[in-house]
Amino acid sequence: MDQRTVAVADRLGKVYGSGQAAVTALDEVSAQFRRGEFTAVMGPSGSGKSTLMHCLAGLDTPTSGKAWVGGADLGSLKEAELTRLRRDRIGFVFQSFNLLPTLTAWENIVLPLTLAGTKPDQDWTRRVVDAVGLGDRLGHRPSELSGGQQQRVACARALVSRPEIVVADEPTGNLDSRSGAQILGLLRRCAKEWGQTVLMVTHDPIAAGYADRVLFLADGRIVDEMAGPTPDLVLDRMRRFDGQAVR
Ligand SMILES: Nc1ncnc2c1ncn2[C@@H]1O[C@H](COP(=O)(O)OP(=O)(O)OP(=O)(O)O)[C@@H](O)[C@H]1O
Ligand SMILES: [Mg+2]
Repeated sequence: MDQRTVAVADRLGKVYGSGQAAVTALDEVSAQFRRGEFTAVMGPSGSGKSTLMHCLAGLDTPTSGKAWVGGADLGSLKEAELTRLRRDRIGFVFQSFNLLPTLTAWENIVLPLTLAGTKPDQDWTRRVVDAVGLGDRLGHRPSELSGGQQQRVACARALVSRPEIVVADEPTGNLDSRSGAQILGLLRRCAKEWGQTVLMVTHDPIAAGYADRVLFLADGRIVDEMAGPTPDLVLDRMRRFDGQAVR
C-alpha cells in the first residue's frame, strides 16, 4: 500500500434486504484514496455512490469486504472508537444535508467543534464561511434557508474542523454555477494546499473537472477510472456509458 494512502475500499460489498427483495448496492468495490487527492465519483442514480461514501466514512456497514481509514479497519472498531474517528478525521456532506433544525446556520457549522470541545480556529472558520458565501443568513435556522443555502451550511460544517478526509455527496447539486464554483474551488484547495483527501459524488462533468481523477460506478461496480479529467472528457465518457446502457 502507498504510504500516502488514507482510505481504502477493499472488495466492499453491500446488499440491502434479503431473498427476492435483495438489492446489491456495492459489488466488490476496491479503491485507494491518497493524501491530498481529490476524487470524483460518478455514475447513474442507484449505482451505489452514496452507499460507497457511507461505508468509507463508517456511516454504514458493508456486508462483505473492508473499509480502512488511516490504517484502521472500520469493521473492527468499537462503536465509541468509530464515533471518535468519524468526529476527528472525517467531514461528511450528506446528499440530504442533515442539518439540525433547531440550530442556526452558524451553530450547525461549528457543531463538529462544539462536539469535540475545541475552539474554532477563527481565521479558518472565517475563510470557510466566506467561501460558502452565506453572508447575513448565518443566524437563520435551516427551515428559513433555501436548499442551496442549506447545502452550503452542510459544506462549511464538513470543512470547519479541517478533517483529514472530506466526503461530499453531491455538494453542488442544488447550487447555481457561481456558488458551485466557490465550493468546488474550496474543495480543491483543501486537497492541494492542505493535503486533505477529498471524495466527491457528482453528476456534473464541470464539477468532476475540479478533481484529480474520476471513478465511474455502474450497478455497484467501478467500471472505469479517469485521471486528469476535464469536463469535455468526462462528458464524452458519460455519453459512451449511456450508449452502452441502451444497447
Ligand atoms: N436503506 C436502503 N434499503 C434498501 N435499498 C437501499 C437502501 N439504500 C440504498 N438502497 C439501494 O441501493 C442502491 C444504491 O443506492 P445509492 O443510494 O448508493 O445510489 P446512488 O448512486 O447514490 O444514487 P443517487 O445518484 O440517486 O443518489 C439503489 O438501488 C438503492 O435503491
Ligand atoms: Mg446518492
